[in-house]
Amino acid sequence: MNILYFTETERGINRWREEFAKVDPSLTIYGLDEAYDPASIDVVLAWKPPQGIFPSLTNLKLTQSLGMGVDHIIKCPDLNKSVPIARIIDTDMSVQMSEYSLYGVLSAFRKFRQYASFQSALEWSPQSRHFHEDFAIGILGLGELGGAVAASLLQNGFTNLRGWARSEKSIPGIQSFAGNDALYDFAKGLDVLICLLPLTKETTDILNINLFAQLNTGAFLINPARGEHLVEADLLTALESGQISGALLDVFREEPLPKSHPFWKESRIEITPHIAAATNPRTASEQVFENIQRIKQNQAALNLIDLEKEY
Ligand code: NAP
Ligand code: GLV
Repeated sequence: MNILYFTETERGINRWREEFAKVDPSLTIYGLDEAYDPASIDVVLAWKPPQGIFPSLTNLKLTQSLGMGVDHIIKCPDLNKSVPIARIIDTDMSVQMSEYSLYGVLSAFRKFRQYASFQSALEWSPQSRHFHEDFAIGILGLGELGGAVAASLLQNGFTNLRGWARSEKSIPGIQSFAGNDALYDFAKGLDVLICLLPLTKETTDILNINLFAQLNTGAFLINPARGEHLVEADLLTALESGQISGALLDVFREEPLPKSHPFWKESRIEITPHIAAATNPRTASEQVFENIQRIKQNQAALNLIDLEKEY
């Protein structure tokens, strides 16, 4: 089996090589810069695959995403759509995302960002508290990550939880909303909105001024999904009006976030550099290796996505 590390930079390739060498030292992973025969490549390990190479991989059998999301593959203009696409589903990433979301929820619930601004002004100013049962938290997307985040918030005492997905869910402790018609009912009166949707044609720009208007005044936004979910100018407008009091953002329309971007200087926005749930080759390599074995045996890979749905 010949594997191509099909990513915008070679960053991380040695970690994958190390992990695969533990189970099958004969497995070769080529970097894009190395000499390889395109027709011999069976599987690509893809992250933001650059244009111009898919058409040359004439015997490709699997496009394996190196992340949980696949939008970075689907947007490749010359993607070979007849080849199945698999993604990573890893408990380690669900745990990371749960930690990230809990951090954001706690900073809103305990008003830590507000106290940080009081500290800069040398102000001693105790505020009224929130109560778990009144503090409404909504999660857009109740898949692998949204489901894990909901479970961890419940475990941490947040009992006023809602989730929105395409299909109805019955998860104990979570009020389920399904489909576009239910979006504003889901959002009405939320204190925290967390986006954990995949990026698709339908979910692009979903975090916009009309959705923000449904939330409680002063609500908090957490977006660790994709930058294109958020209409950035609408967030600045909502912060200005006070409709949104703060945001924790991990992903941006342009990454790295350009130094001239207004978000950097907005003290109500906390920025992290797309690290909410990083792929861990130590835990994820087992399933990727298993997919390679499956392809070798002409079996379907695990964790395939539906190209029609885009996730
Ligand atoms: P997933 O398991 O595929 O779940 C997606 C959820 O979104 C499902 O509940 C799905 O509804 C719902 N959904 C999709 N399209 C919808 C629509 N049009 N309307 C309503 N609901 C819709 O995805 P996941 O593994 O949880 O990952 C979510 C995203 O997180 C990834 O795609 C990626 O972009 C992002 N991510 C970010 C990081 C980071 O470090 N920042 C790390 C990993 C992943 P159904 O259940 O009804 O299908
Ligand atoms: C990260 O953003 C991922 O999709 O895994």
